[in-house]
Amino acid sequence: ARVAIVISGEGSNMAALLYASRLPGSVFEIVLVASNNPQAPGLALAEAEGVPTWSLSHKGVARDEFDEALHEALTAARPDAVALAGYMRLLTPAFVERWQGRLLNIHPSLLPNYRGLDTHQRALDAGDSHGGCSVHLVTEEVDAGEVLGQLPVAIRAGDTAESLAQRVRLAEHQLYPATLAAYVSRHQDAGWIERQVDAIAA
Ligand code: GRF
Repeated sequence: ARVAIVISGEGSNMAALLYASRLPGSVFEIVLVASNNPQAPGLALAEAEGVPTWSLSHKGVARDEFDEALHEALTAARPDAVALAGYMRLLTPAFVERWQGRLLNIHPSLLPNYRGLDTHQRALDAGDSHGGCSVHLVTEEVDAGEVLGQLPVAIRAGDTAESLAQRVRLAEHQLYPATLAAYVSRHQDAGWIERQVDAIAA
């Protein structure tokens, strides 16, 4: 399957997906890394690895215009699936609708717990035994789409939001490639691909 990745920053999940895609037997390849931040360190990494990149600063650009430009860049890369990986902007309903069912995100909590930001601090404040991460389908409501995979991470005495975030990040790097691979494998029937082509043409 052809996979495009959308990032805003560091891109460590992007790197995990990219290296996983280069393992023998991988069922997906990375065809584009896109960003709303031309300075994103992850873009430079993708470039060094020979992966096509696209970026447009969102600053001073209306959200619907930005999403339209992103949609066009993605469409040109003909991805079967789009993986948001640390993409820190809200998407317009129109964009989500066009990519629905092919748009995945990784979120640093055990959904449905702690949608939104500051997930690790909130888990610590609640006295939870575990944090973790979830890969889910993107729907209009933020962090609310169907959960495709989760990995719990034990909270240790003395953990801070930063120390927990670091360990959850390691778990994310395992969870995202495995979940994406399972998802695209499940949907790799001819009908699915035809529906995508129709959706992109619409
Ligand atoms: C990850 O923790 C992800 O769950 C969250 O943003 C972070 C992105 O990190 N949405 P990176 O850019 O992949 O290193």
